[in-house]
Amino acid sequence: MILADYKELINKAISARELSYSPYSGFKVGAALLCKSGEIYTGCNVENASYGETVCAERTAILKAVSSGEREFSAIAIVGGKDTIQGYAYPCGACRQVMSEFCDTELEIVLFDGESTQISTLGQLFPCSFGKKDLK
Ligand code: THU
Repeated sequence: MILADYKELINKAISARELSYSPYSGFKVGAALLCKSGEIYTGCNVENASYGETVCAERTAILKAVSSGEREFSAIAIVGGKDTIQGYAYPCGACRQVMSEFCDTELEIVLFDGESTQISTLGQLFPCSFGKKDLK
């Protein structure tokens, strides 16, 4: 069941996943980022023959939003899987670090496995992080 509050966000992540460019892994990821302005930015994973240059769906969405002038975010929905959406697609460490640059610890990370929704905060998934406070 999709939680009513995040139905639109999850559906946008599902649509974004369809645009995934993932010829190497075959693992398609879609993300939809809800800005505090109310705007939603989507992203998919974009792979590269030089594998390390691959960009994850979450970072695609965040960079689209930030480069459009957005700075404050309240939630991100993520879906992933090969043929279909399968399992909860937790964000990788690099994406959690990029989220922590722009999002507060209350950011809600909304995972949908095709049947159920699981919500965590960035603070729960990325505790004791290194960030701008450490560079003061
Ligand atoms: N991937 C994401 O898009 N987001 C994550 O947080 C983890 C991994 C992508 C990268 C690659 O294209 C594929 O999933 C398999 O690692």
